[in-house]
Amino acid sequence: MTHTFGAYFSPTGGTKRALEAVCGLLGGESESFPLTGPDKKEKTFGPEELLVLALPVYAGQIPAVPGLLDGLKGDNTPCVLLSTYGNRHYDNALAQMKRLMEARGFRCVGAAAVVTPHIFAPTLGVGRPDGEDLEVLGRFAQDVKDRLASGAAGSVELPGDPEPPAHPAVPVKKDRDWDTCLGCGFCAQVCPTGAMDPKTLLWDMEKCISCMACVSRCPVGALGYNSAAIAARLTEKFSERRPVEVFL
Ligand SMILES: Cc1cc2nc3c(=O)[nH]c(=O)nc-3n(C[C@H](O)[C@H](O)[C@H](O)COP(=O)(O)O)c2cc1C
Ligand code: SF4
Ligand code: SF4
Repeated sequence: MTHTFGAYFSPTGGTKRALEAVCGLLGGESESFPLTGPDKKEKTFGPEELLVLALPVYAGQIPAVPGLLDGLKGDNTPCVLLSTYGNRHYDNALAQMKRLMEARGFRCVGAAAVVTPHIFAPTLGVGRPDGEDLEVLGRFAQDVKDRLASGAAGSVELPGDPEPPAHPAVPVKKDRDWDTCLGCGFCAQVCPTGAMDPKTLLWDMEKCISCMACVSRCPVGALGYNSAAIAARLTEKFSERRPVEVFL
């Protein structure tokens, strides 16, 4: 089996968990790395390696992080795409990922849309991927391996618009409790868009994509946000369980 690498953008941890579950199901040796933040890595892949790319869905497409995929280069390298989303829909994200990765030298041999917790709506995607999801993903991983081993892995057909018009997500205001804040600046370091001034620690809402990495990574919980209105709207409309969808 080829060596498997996982690359992810996971501001609040759900995408990373889903990616690592899929890498585990693919078996063999694997290692994963972030595409943003202080530990971000870049890598050029050969034709015998396998990359699993996992990105969350924001407003039906991939997060608008400038240069997010620039560190990944393939040489007809097989690639599996994972789109993680909070039980509303993944819309154009997989098709967009395929277009961008094929332009970077990868061959997209399979894809899955996986439900993970919705950071703005605490009941959506809670506990997912769960046992039922992992069963589907286990069969998917086996099919990917079989196709790669038999040389039958072609470029997968995916739903959605590969080049969707920009659709910025609704901004969510954040607050800092200055009495708790240590002034360590880690929130600014993990911000993928440079939206937080490293000196003043203030937000530039023009650059912020509301990914909530700053909030979720603060070591003392000094940051918060109120998404109650978004949560109420999403919960009313999108509470019915969506299954994992796979494409081969
Ligand atoms: C700005 C923003 C926009 C989002 N848009 C969608 C969406 O269009 N559809 C959906 O089902 N979930 C949406 N979500 C939920 C995320 O896709 C989900 O919470 C994902 O797991 C976050 O990944 P992470 O835990 O790795 O940060 C959105 C989340 C954020 C922060
Ligand atoms: S990570 Fe938390 S403690 Fe550190 S500067 Fe940011 S808000 Fe303050
Ligand atoms: S400032 Fe905005 S873009 Fe930066 S980490 Fe926080 S929520 Fe994400």
